[in-house]
Formats: sequence, C-alpha cells, structure tokens
Amino acid sequence: YLNFKRLKYGMDEWEELRSAVSNCTKCRLHEGRRHAVLGEGPLNAELMLIGEAPGAQEDMTGRPFVGAAGKLLNDMLGEAGLSRDRIYITNIVKCRPPNNREPLPDEEEACLPYLIRQIVLIRPRLAITMGKHSSAALLSMAGVRINGISEVRGRLRSIKVGDVELTVLPTYHPAAAIYNPRLRAAIVGDLRIAASFMS
Ligand code: URA
Repeated sequence: YLNFKRLKYGMDEWEELRSAVSNCTKCRLHEGRRHAVLGEGPLNAELMLIGEAPGAQEDMTGRPFVGAAGKLLNDMLGEAGLSRDRIYITNIVKCRPPNNREPLPDEEEACLPYLIRQIVLIRPRLAITMGKHSSAALLSMAGVRINGISEVRGRLRSIKVGDVELTVLPTYHPAAAIYNPRLRAAIVGDLRIAASFMS
C-alpha cells in the first residue's frame, strides 16, 4: 500500500512535468515544434545521458536520439557494454531549434528548470553530458565555466543539483563523431567509465 502510494505520487509529478513541457511557451522554440521531447528511460535510472536538442526525427516522433546521432549512440552504448533501456536519455533543450541550429543562451536558460526537475525526480548517480551545451550548463551549476568541451571531456566532477549529489562526465556529442573515428573512440571510452559505475 505504501509503495503504491509512493509510486502514484511520483507518477503525478511526472505527468505534471510532461504536461508542462508539452505546453511550454517560455521561449521561441515552441513556435516551430511538432513535439516537445521530454526524454525517455527508466524513472529510477542510475545513468542519465544529456544531449543538446531534438533534431528532425526527434521532433517528429517525440523521442530523443532516434535519428542518425541516435543510431550511432546506440552502437557506441553497445560497444561500451551499456544497454539503452537502463538509461534515461534527454536533452538540455526540449524543442527543436530551426534548421538544427545550436540552442541560444536564453533558450537553454528557459529550459534548464525542466532538466533540473528530471534530475531531482530520477536521482541518477552519473550524468554524461554530450557536447558543449549540456556540459557547460551542468558544470555552471558547480560554478565552472568552460570555453570548449575538450578542456573537460572525460573528467569526472561531483556537483549538487537540488538535493541530488551527481557525478558529471562530459563527453563529445555523438553527432560530432559520425565522421570522426577519434571522437567516436573517446566517447566509447567515456561510456566504458559510465559502465563501471552501474551496479
Ligand atoms: N541530438 C541531440 O542532441 N539530441 C537528440 O535528441 C538528437 C540529436
């Protein structure tokens, strides 16, 4: 009975978040979206992957990382011994920027509270931030400013998000690795570190 109540309480909070994101008009990106992409995966995942923003396929389906970058991500997860269905996958920005341009600072700022809410509800132990946008956003919560992804990639850092103690591991964005075997190998290496975190 108690467990059921706890679960029900948690589900209400997710429904609230899902509906807030679906109906969000806090920045200009809502104008062109078909679907806001909240994220997917187990709500008690130990590992969270955080990308940049939905692309065309993601906007169409409402699911994260289902296009070309997503296929590569799936391959790299497999190589690192991780299974996607145990990971919660999301983005720093939930709506697709026009022509897949990079998200603007005010768009990230408007969207960040949703990611913080996801982290507080899921309570992952490790978050892999993929690319400079999500890496910069999470590290800024620890007061760390970065100029590029290379200076922090592959280095673990503890941060606090709400009441959650979280280890952050920045890596390259999978889209950057599509034609670059060196970046691909680096990402797989970082995912292997993540695999060693999983119980
Ligand atoms: N690239 C991202 O950063 N996120 C997605 O969901 C898809 C592609």
